Amino acid sequence: MNAAQLQRAILSWYRQAARKLPWREETSVYRTVVSEFMLQQTQVKTVLPYFGRWMGRFPDFESLAAAAPDAVMHAWEGLGYYSRARNLHRLAQAVVRDGVPRTPAQWRELPGIGPYTAAAICSIAFGHPEACVDGNVVRILARLTGDRTLFRDSASAAKAFAPLARRLIEGCAEPGDYNQAMMELGATLCTRANPQCLICPVRGLCAAGRAGTAADLPRLAPKTVTVQEVVRVWCVKDDALLLHRHRNQSERLAGLHEIPSADQLGLAAASVARGRLLARKRRAITRYRITELIYEGRGSSLPPVGGGELVWVPLGELAGCTLSGPHRRWVGEIIGRLSRRASGSA
Ligand code: ADE
Repeated sequence: MNAAQLQRAILSWYRQAARKLPWREETSVYRTVVSEFMLQQTQVKTVLPYFGRWMGRFPDFESLAAAAPDAVMHAWEGLGYYSRARNLHRLAQAVVRDGVPRTPAQWRELPGIGPYTAAAICSIAFGHPEACVDGNVVRILARLTGDRTLFRDSASAAKAFAPLARRLIEGCAEPGDYNQAMMELGATLCTRANPQCLICPVRGLCAAGRAGTAADLPRLAPKTVTVQEVVRVWCVKDDALLLHRHRNQSERLAGLHEIPSADQLGLAAASVARGRLLARKRRAITRYRITELIYEGRGSSLPPVGGGELVWVPLGELAGCTLSGPHRRWVGEIIGRLSRRASGSA
């Protein structure tokens, strides 16, 4: 693979095909950092409205560093993977205290920054020739080289392609644009299920494109899927809803409120399931396929609660309380349904 040829082809395509995204139109180290945190595990179209609101609320490292942790979590509500918000907050405090790091190694010492994000920030904001390697880039490189290795998982595939990725960005005059061009190609043309080889700017350099095998690559071992059921309890008393607030800072959901599970209330799922079923929801998180069952709590069977991780939140204050994205939707749906039923219109 000739690095200079690849760089030329992909950069000239990027100049005319790149989506106009707010962190590309107006750039700063802060905007690059915020966009890269939001874009970890989340698609561009989901990030766009959050990015605009975030910049209005926390326009720079200083305003973010000074914000209350609850305000930061609330602004992130619905984006998921909440440790990103906590890490971004701590990162802003470190930058305000110690100054802006310059090298990928210094960036990697900050919270929430792995090799991919360090490479993205340093190439986009400082012009360092550091390659980003994620699922998109692995897919492009596996196809360009026609590599049919069966990888155990995406992390081992990324490790295997990292040396090639490093070689291909060497000598590049615009490493930030090159990395973003690779991300753009992976997100728009070199997609997993439906590669658009006929209009691909690097078709002439691509082994799988020539052989017509792009959709088969990269080869990854199928993930083992785990099926789970979670029984939750809906308790409203004196116009307040009982929620579970995750407190443990090391937990993925720390600081977020959710409808409590039977477990969290110390109730047996079988006894909760004798109540009225208010909602059945299916969702997928990484390799888990989860069915969530939300039952109406029956007053007499509920344990006395309050304090600790269980909190009564007045219905009028729910909007100001941080819920995870799915729980915000379910709470809205159930309250709407119950109030229509109470007013006799459902
Ligand atoms: N994914 C990760 N970083 C990105 C960026 N800067 N532009 C578009 N998609 C991305």
